[in-house]
Amino acid sequence: MAALEITRLQKKFGGVVALNGVDLSVDPTRITGIIGPNGSGKTTLFNVIVGAHKPSAGRVSWLGTDITGKSPALIARHGLVRTFQQAMSFSTLSVRENVTIACEHGRPRDNGGLRWSSPEEILDFVGLSGLGDQTAGSMPFGNLRRLGIAIALGTNPLLLLLDEPAAGLNQTEVAQLMELILQLPKVGIGVCLIDHDMFLMSGLCERLTVLNFGTKIAEGPPAAVLNDPKVKEVYLGNEL
Ligand SMILES: Nc1ncnc2c1ncn2[C@@H]1O[C@H](COP(=O)(O)OP(=O)(O)OP(=O)(O)O)[C@@H](O)[C@H]1O
Ligand SMILES: [Mg+2]
Repeated sequence: MAALEITRLQKKFGGVVALNGVDLSVDPTRITGIIGPNGSGKTTLFNVIVGAHKPSAGRVSWLGTDITGKSPALIARHGLVRTFQQAMSFSTLSVRENVTIACEHGRPRDNGGLRWSSPEEILDFVGLSGLGDQTAGSMPFGNLRRLGIAIALGTNPLLLLLDEPAAGLNQTEVAQLMELILQLPKVGIGVCLIDHDMFLMSGLCERLTVLNFGTKIAEGPPAAVLNDPKVKEVYLGNEL
């Protein structure tokens, strides 16, 4: 079942049409990937889904409820949460405090599916065991990315939207990140993933959707999508 249904979604910034009538279904039991060149509208799509931007037209439906244009706080209470392209945290607070604050927001815990009983367990899950007392801002970049995921998990999500989680990571860190992302559907958290790393995307995603200038130009299993002449043309052979 597609729990997230996006219909003819449009977002204009002044004269820029960032999303131009995008249809997308996301099955939260799978890992779904969104790819496309810089500026093709991927982050804007996430921003509209989680309520950070109001769409110019179109509809976002989640578990049968129309959430179009609702606030990020309300949408997070329904279990839809994204991470940021830039690693985001309260840099002067400890790692544990960052996750604790997240645990006070998002989807109510009495709504079932409580997977972790404490921030510490979330830190263990993302591979930050024993680092709870560290100041977030003092951590190396790879750990900050894990913290970003831990913060998102603190909100008790049903579907996590990850915006370029591998950006700036080295090969070892990317491999560890892939392991972590693969665990999410196993604990009942759907994943929708944006990244430019095609190794990561084809390794993780059961389906890929390709955006170009705000328009969906292809979707389907990764092998077929990455072989699509329209997709190859967009990437000019650079990244595939
Ligand atoms: N807040 C904004 N105000 C004005 N224009 C914006 C805003 N956010 C995005 N845009 C424009 O919308 C288009 C899509 O941008 P978006 O950030 O969604 O692309 P992207 O696919 O995520 O790119 P990247 O791969 O570089 O992250 C771009 O032309 C961008 O300049
Ligand atoms: Mg982006």
